[in-house]
Amino acid sequence: MTTISLSPAGRTCLQAGAEVRGGFGIQESGSKVKRTILVVGAKGMLGTDLMEVLHSSTPGDEVAGWDIEEIDVEKEEGTVAKIEKLRPEIVVHIAAYTDVDGCESNKEKAFAVNGEGTKHVALAASKCHAKMVYLSTDYVFDGDKREPYSESDSPHPLNVYGESKLKGEQYVQTLVKDFLIIRTQWLYGPFGKNFVSSILQQARGQSALCIVDDQTGSPTYTADLAKAISKLIQFDARGIFHVANSGVCTWYTFGQTILKFLGINRVKVIPISSGELGRPAVRPFYSVLGCQKLKEETGLTMRPWSEALKDYLKTLNPPSPPQGQG
Ligand SMILES: NC(=O)c1ccc[n+]([C@@H]2O[C@H](COP(=O)([O-])OP(=O)(O)OC[C@H]3O[C@@H](n4cnc5c(N)ncnc54)[C@H](OP(=O)(O)O)[C@@H]3O)[C@@H](O)[C@H]2O)c1
Repeated sequence: MTTISLSPAGRTCLQAGAEVRGGFGIQESGSKVKRTILVVGAKGMLGTDLMEVLHSSTPGDEVAGWDIEEIDVEKEEGTVAKIEKLRPEIVVHIAAYTDVDGCESNKEKAFAVNGEGTKHVALAASKCHAKMVYLSTDYVFDGDKREPYSESDSPHPLNVYGESKLKGEQYVQTLVKDFLIIRTQWLYGPFGKNFVSSILQQARGQSALCIVDDQTGSPTYTADLAKAISKLIQFDARGIFHVANSGVCTWYTFGQTILKFLGINRVKVIPISSGELGRPAVRPFYSVLGCQKLKEETGLTMRPWSEALKDYLKTLNPPSPPQGQG
């Protein structure tokens, strides 16, 4: 467990009614007030990176990280009681049932975790008068648009995962006064199974890979997203924000680029359609998230996905060739 104990000094300051201006936690005198930031879902792919970034970028704050072993968000009473006991100033809710195809066959679980689970965290945040940051997805959109989705576009999910995450968004908006919803997409990073790890694994044993070429989005590096989340918290951003690495591609181009950057040219990449792949969950054909609001309101821009990918791949060991091939 990565929980860090509360600071009595920080607590006293807040209990004494010192004014905390925005998310910067600045007292009227200008001295920084120590806040407690709780990350729920701290051991997942994004959560692990985010814990590291929050520890280094908010040194004056206490950062607590819980995952399923410490808190099961499906359970209302336990979730609310545990968060209330900690009394954080900021709750970052990242925990989710993220198996998009699994959600189709396990709709009840999808809504129990992503919908009701988020409601329980939101209730707790509201009771603590905490800011709530909620991670959501491009899959709340149907993909009919042919230009980047903005925060004001109407959601219309095509699959159970998207529906359940949208339910979570609605609970956050209804129950929490100070909320920040961050929609992101196509995540990869060192701390979880993802498209990049799957391509690398398959490239170890196969000479040809069939990859879907009719879904367009923006691959996003968890390390970049974690930094943006931390910045948005520092800016005390409120409302809905889209955050993804810039530039767009299909999964096919993404796969090709991974292999190209690693210098692997013995693996043939074959473009296929979503229909040919036949996954249980329908995905939007176009779910690019426009990040204009992020730039306008915070000055932040996300670097191109290919640049982020290059950096990430440098941290990995390239896959060894399959037997008998060079
Ligand atoms: N991955 C993507 O491409 C993507 C795209 C858009 C948005 N998002 C959103 O971004 C966030 C982070 O995604 P991620 O890929 O980093 O997720 P992840 O790796 O699956 O991490 C989610 C974490 O939540 C935990 N969890 C599951 N059920 C829980 C419960 N009932 N109570 C408490 N914890 C629970 C999981 O534990 P177990 O592993 O033990 O189940 C896991 O540690 C999620 O909210 C996701 O919806 C992800």
